[in-house]
Amino acid sequence: MSATAKKRAPLPEDILARKGGEPIVSLTCYTTPMAEIMDEHVDFVLVGDSVGMVLHGLKSTVEVTMEMMILHGKAVARGLSSAMLVVDMPFGSYEESPEQAFRNAAHIMRETGAGAVKLEGGTQMAQTIRFLVDRGIPVMAHVGLTPQSINTLGGYKVQGRGDAGDALMADAQAVAEAGAFSVVLEKVPESLADKVTAEVPIPTIGIGASAGCDGQILVLDDMLGLFTAFKAKFVKRFANLGEDAGAAIADYARAVKAREFPGPEHVFGDAAPGAKK
Ligand code: KIV
Repeated sequence: MSATAKKRAPLPEDILARKGGEPIVSLTCYTTPMAEIMDEHVDFVLVGDSVGMVLHGLKSTVEVTMEMMILHGKAVARGLSSAMLVVDMPFGSYEESPEQAFRNAAHIMRETGAGAVKLEGGTQMAQTIRFLVDRGIPVMAHVGLTPQSINTLGGYKVQGRGDAGDALMADAQAVAEAGAFSVVLEKVPESLADKVTAEVPIPTIGIGASAGCDGQILVLDDMLGLFTAFKAKFVKRFANLGEDAGAAIADYARAVKAREFPGPEHVFGDAAPGAKK
């Protein structure tokens, strides 16, 4: 491959083949400019339903709709050329039946060009995952803390502690057996994440899990310090863009009030015909 040749976007089977290999890098993303920035650095990009909370100010992901996922999925697709696009299925779009899940997953893939969908749930979603995979829809599963179920989980608690570890392991095994090509493990004890990673044959993608997972994901606006309403323990802020934006906007307001902006370099002269603009 020449130095300038672009790598092709991985397929779900390429992600699956990374089990136990070089860690898989991923982030969530919701807009074209950010997709362009991260494209060369990540293996896959997830248009997460976290978009509802971090961009639309919703209280939880339960309120996110198909329309929102498709709108942001299309925007992200426009910015990607070498990372795989995965789009979250929103709450209420897949739980009713495998047929409902197929209809909505196919709609998301057709509209956005996504290479795969992600859905939340373990053993109880295994039949649906099998139905989708058998019909050509690659599925990334998501177990542990599944934010679409906060109303039954009783909040954003660590999942799989103590006796609950066996059920979480069973969830991860069930989605792997059903044909998922990878599984997100969210907010589970490190030792359990390591055990699941060792025993389950598909890549584990950790968020609040363990550095031993086969890959990692973070919510983009969390790791850039753009979403500051709250910060989970598992979030590392790699930048503080929210603070930078606040300072820039304050400086702009000051410059406008002081009539320092716009400056001579930002305004136009009276252009004579044929003169340089
Ligand atoms: O919606 C989302 O951002 C997610 C990640 C936290 C994995 O599902």
